[in-house]
Amino acid sequence: MSEKPVIEVVGLTKRFKGLTAVNDVSFSVRKGGITGMIGPNGAGKSTTFNMICGYYPPTEGKIYYNGEDITNKRAYEYTNMKIARTFQIMKPLKNLTVLDNVIASAYFGHAAAKSKEEATERAIEILKFTGLYEKRHVLSKEMGTPDQKRLEMARALATKPEVLFLDENMAGLNPTETAEAIELIRKINQSGVTILLIEHIMQAVVSLCEKVIVLHHGEKIAEGTPEEVMNDPYVMEVYLGKKAEDKQEKEEA
Ligand SMILES: Nc1ncnc2c1ncn2[C@@H]1O[C@H](COP(=O)(O)OP(=O)(O)O)[C@@H](O)[C@H]1O
Ligand SMILES: [Mg+2]
Repeated sequence: MSEKPVIEVVGLTKRFKGLTAVNDVSFSVRKGGITGMIGPNGAGKSTTFNMICGYYPPTEGKIYYNGEDITNKRAYEYTNMKIARTFQIMKPLKNLTVLDNVIASAYFGHAAAKSKEEATERAIEILKFTGLYEKRHVLSKEMGTPDQKRLEMARALATKPEVLFLDENMAGLNPTETAEAIELIRKINQSGVTILLIEHIMQAVVSLCEKVIVLHHGEKIAEGTPEEVMNDPYVMEVYLGKKAEDKQEKEEA
């Protein structure tokens, strides 16, 4: 009945020397949906993304993309897969204009542009879609955080992904900018792109995600609708317990 998941990970584990950053994590991502991943700092969220996107090989476990085992494929072999990502630390080409940044990305991936005209045409369309068209001649380094984040998404979209991974794309945004970012992510999803996002801003997770995976100390501790995970006693303890600790530390300082 249901379509096979676009991404499925089974028993995913990553050990860095003595540290187990991700431990036996399994979940799937529904094609066409928005899946969220939350958890305290150091929970293993970015490491999970890095494994799925081919940046690190997993120590153990399997990664399937549209049913195909891609566990041992490296990042450069992902070019023919339709997976794109943004980074927690933004990596735009600082001395290029917004337009040239997006044009450069249009030459990568399964739908790599074959000519400058094709790349430019696609970039302009994406800049209009993401609300950056008016700033197309600005150097990317001269833009503020919200536009840099938008540019990261525009660059990822220039590769025509089927799945887009967003790693804390809303960090540092004020409430108005956050609301705009939520709208853009929804619009990208409605254009047919499956989204997996890591996000600290609960408002974003609640309003966007059909399913949320909660990581803590590298382990999946809960999975369900935003409402289900927010009401999960262990998740509440992890979040509220952490707040209580922070408060205590401040009081002791
Ligand atoms: N390349 C690496 N080498 C060693 N340790 C790492 C590396 N990347 C992440 N870690 C460690 O793995 C744990 C999980 O990190 P990360 O996945 O970045 O967490 P999150 O994104 O949930 O904040 C942390 O303890 C972090 O210090
Ligand atoms: Mg992270």
